Amino acid sequence: KDDEIILAIETSCDETAAAVIQGGSSILSNVVASQIESHQRFGGVVPELASRHHTENITWVVEEALTDAGVIFADLDAVAVTAGPGLVGALLVGVNAAKAIAFAHGLPLLPVHHIAGHIQAARLERPWHYPALALVVSGGHTELVLLKDEGEYEVIGQTRDDAAGEAYDKVARSLNLSYPGGPQIDKLAREGETIIPFPIAWLEEGSYDFSFSGLKSAVINKLHNAKQKGEVFRKEDVAASFQRSVIEVLTEKTKRAAAQYGVKQVVVVGGVAANKGLRQSMKDIFSNTEVELTIPPLALCTDNAAMIGAAAHIQWKKNIQADWNLNGKADLAL
Ligand code: KG4
Ligand code: ZN
Repeated sequence: KDDEIILAIETSCDETAAAVIQGGSSILSNVVASQIESHQRFGGVVPELASRHHTENITWVVEEALTDAGVIFADLDAVAVTAGPGLVGALLVGVNAAKAIAFAHGLPLLPVHHIAGHIQAARLERPWHYPALALVVSGGHTELVLLKDEGEYEVIGQTRDDAAGEAYDKVARSLNLSYPGGPQIDKLAREGETIIPFPIAWLEEGSYDFSFSGLKSAVINKLHNAKQKGEVFRKEDVAASFQRSVIEVLTEKTKRAAAQYGVKQVVVVGGVAANKGLRQSMKDIFSNTEVELTIPPLALCTDNAAMIGAAAHIQWKKNIQADWNLNGKADLAL
């Protein structure tokens, strides 16, 4: 029962993705059609454009996932799909495709939460050790999630305003860098010095929540005022100083939560987990400890369907299925 073959579909934002996963951890195929180029000239994701691209791409992406895996519909045991959170018009394309496939082939339909997907990218790397803590940092999310056991998610902290990736993208824009700006800031930061004092939002004592809008505004205001005063900052130094503020709060809160809950494993996932500075700081903190650190490879950290298939495996085992009324939900709770 544990070596089921699942076709997984993900269309919550700007990647049209399909994957075939066996037994929750073996990737038979993993296809991602990125729309980044279409959205780049608008400086961010345009929801209506995303839906249209998903509609154009979903059929060939699913076909390619099956072909790459060397399977046909008849080989599948279930179809999984991201049901939320995300852009509702984007989610609906994947949900409807999954429903059609499941209905036509008499397969169970497994609804997956996008964040559960990001977190379960870790099981594609190695088995879980509970209790575990996951830091999910992406363009849309910044969350600390405690996993006491398989598939039991407890959000212990989250952003109160911007997501970490969103702050990266907005700061990048104010430095005239193209979308998405995270990777470019990361690169510039390595050549800069942390000489500009930007704020860090620690919030109330003991809180595992985050806030990045104050930092974002501080950077934008600094650049604006500098321009008026004729002061010049090196982009590299702005990037390095901003990045330090982000990484310090992410790593410090992860470290404190890991200690408080006595976790055996810490997992870092989501697009911002690609950040070289963040990866290094996490390694520095956890390398000589009892805590096992798992940061999946980049392709499994950014949006993909393999992670959705990995999360769906848990639902398969628990027999959690959706019916034909399944809908995409923009603010689905974990
Ligand atoms: O997980 P993801 O692909 O999509 C969402 O679900 O949001 O994350 C995309 C985000 C973007 O904000 C992008 O700027 C950020 O991840 N990102 C990075 C890096 N690579 C991607 N942020 C910082 N450093 C990076 N190297
Ligand atoms: Zn995501």
